[in-house]
Amino acid sequence: MDVMEAIRTRRSVRGYLDKPVEDEKLNAVLEAARLAPSARNSQDWKFVVVRGAERRQKIMAAAKGQVFVGQAPVVIACCAMDAERVMSCGQKAGPINVAIAVDHMTLAAVELGLGTCWVCAFDEAPVKEILGIPDGPRVIALLTLGYPESAPPPTARKSMDEIVCHEEWS
Ligand SMILES: Cc1cc2nc3c(=O)[nH]c(=O)nc-3n(C[C@H](O)[C@H](O)[C@H](O)COP(=O)(O)O)c2cc1C
Repeated sequence: MDVMEAIRTRRSVRGYLDKPVEDEKLNAVLEAARLAPSARNSQDWKFVVVRGAERRQKIMAAAKGQVFVGQAPVVIACCAMDAERVMSCGQKAGPINVAIAVDHMTLAAVELGLGTCWVCAFDEAPVKEILGIPDGPRVIALLTLGYPESAPPPTARKSMDEIVCHEEWS
């Protein structure tokens, strides 16, 4: 599978089979995060992999009760070690770096026949408590991972004309 095919095939998967993710596949997905680019190559991220059913249920509750979060056999809490560092462009580096790593994981998962879903609807404080995350790091996103129950249909995208202009803003 080439990159464009993975990009085209990826969907947010909100239903998972009751089937564990093999260690090799999980490691391959995490390897895609490890290799992601980051500002100044800071790699200022940490990924907490949660497979235990009890903990996943608690995370589901902290994620506004989104059922698929508890159903997915793996939930990865994607954290920025220094979420406040501001780049000269004025943007915070940490959340951007983590977002790139998460997207790498979503695409690597497609090639392995796995589904993912970004989850940012969650309360950070309980997630940090459930996972024993200290004060400094911030949880930027949760990523569910598992074998999809079914293939969700594609969602709509804006046309190229709506999102791209050339030479000058228009
Ligand atoms: C930053 C971010 C946060 C998201 N948070 C959630 C979430 O909490 N729950 C959820 O079901 N989907 C969440 N999504 C998934 C989006 O709803 C989904 O990507 C979008 O509707 C497009 O659908 P697709 O991913 O299938 O192409 C999130 C996606 C992103 C990028």
